[in-house]
Amino acid sequence: MEVKIVENYQEMSRLAAILLAAEVIENPHTILGLATGSTPVGLYKELITMYQNGKLDFSDVKTFNLDEYVGLAAEHEQSYHYFMKKNLFEHINMKEENIHIPRGDAADISEEALRYEQEIQKTGKIQLQLLGLGENGHIGFNEPADSFSVQTGEIVLTDSTIEANQRFFERREDVPKTAISIGIGTIMNAEKILLVACGEKKAKAVKSVVEGRVTPHVPGSILQFHPHVTVIADRAATALLKK
Ligand code: GLP
Repeated sequence: MEVKIVENYQEMSRLAAILLAAEVIENPHTILGLATGSTPVGLYKELITMYQNGKLDFSDVKTFNLDEYVGLAAEHEQSYHYFMKKNLFEHINMKEENIHIPRGDAADISEEALRYEQEIQKTGKIQLQLLGLGENGHIGFNEPADSFSVQTGEIVLTDSTIEANQRFFERREDVPKTAISIGIGTIMNAEKILLVACGEKKAKAVKSVVEGRVTPHVPGSILQFHPHVTVIADRAATALLKK
């Protein structure tokens, strides 16, 4: 695991965007795994600027998002469909058919999870998987558990995640209780992984992921077993790492 420590959010966003942009330039048909949350917003802005300046072309890029809340339709303002549209897709030239996000409003969630997993496998290997990090060490929506999830499935959100994500909803009761998330196995299957983290709230999780014991109780710790992981994090998020 290579850890790049930067000064602040802006530097993290810029550096992460450069790595993603390099992937798109090197391989215009690349398959990207994308993430939501506050952390990637800045790097998506950087990508949009590069696109507007004529430096990037997304017309042949395919994307798979990590997760979606169960019960929220694509038009819901807190859905990850909506997030991706507003923060990235409506500003760049991705083709609609190349964008993949699990449907949180599917009638049968396990069927949707299976369909999504098969769609990823059919399309090919995710070349660069972008990840944020939950305060409890989750990646995607793979919560701490007694075993690692292998494939895409429905996840029951922990109280700490509901708490952390409550800020986007009017009331705590409005936060969905479950989500569809691609599995840890699916994430580990990606060619390269780029994890971004910022702020002291992430410091404990960053330490456990980078230096802790590999355990499903800290889902991100499995990344220690992946051959090509880059972590880009600011000083606050890396404050607890051994110097
Ligand atoms: C959500 C998402 C994760 C994300 C995490 C951290 O739970 N499912 O993919 O990494 O939030 O979000 P933030 O970047 O807002 O701290």
